[in-house]
Amino acid sequence: MAEQTLIIVKPDAVKRNLVEEILSRFKKKGFSISKLKTFNFTVEMAEQFYSVHSSKPFFGELVSFITSGTVVAAIIEGDNVINVTREIIGKTNPKEASPGTIRGDFGTGILENSIHASDSRESFDKEVNVVF
Ligand code: CMP
Repeated sequence: MAEQTLIIVKPDAVKRNLVEEILSRFKKKGFSISKLKTFNFTVEMAEQFYSVHSSKPFFGELVSFITSGTVVAAIIEGDNVINVTREIIGKTNPKEASPGTIRGDFGTGILENSIHASDSRESFDKEVNVVF
């Protein structure tokens, strides 16, 4: 079975109608999208999804932002998709993300960075259970 990762197109990008543009970058790279879900995080889901950050000072605003609007989750499949997806999305802070990456092109702030992606197989397993 091909490797899988999970992405979340965040509320800032959904509000600006960037979902198709963002998903197209993964398709153009040759990856396939096996599941797609449009939904709103509840606070409980968000706290579970981001539990690794629960002790960080920004945890409250992170939960508040991700629950602030509709998101689109996708499972992306292909060779080495976890690592390649991290390259496609770019650095966490859009100010540091290179042009050509999703966050470099569309992100407007550290919270409003347009997209989340699993950073490991372990994160994927945990995140997919919260979302799907
Ligand atoms: P994401 O990939 O969704 O994983 C956790 C998120 O926390 C990250 O993207 C950022 O949006 C956010 N984040 C990381 N560092 C900070 C910070 N210093 N202040 C506020 N938000 C942050």
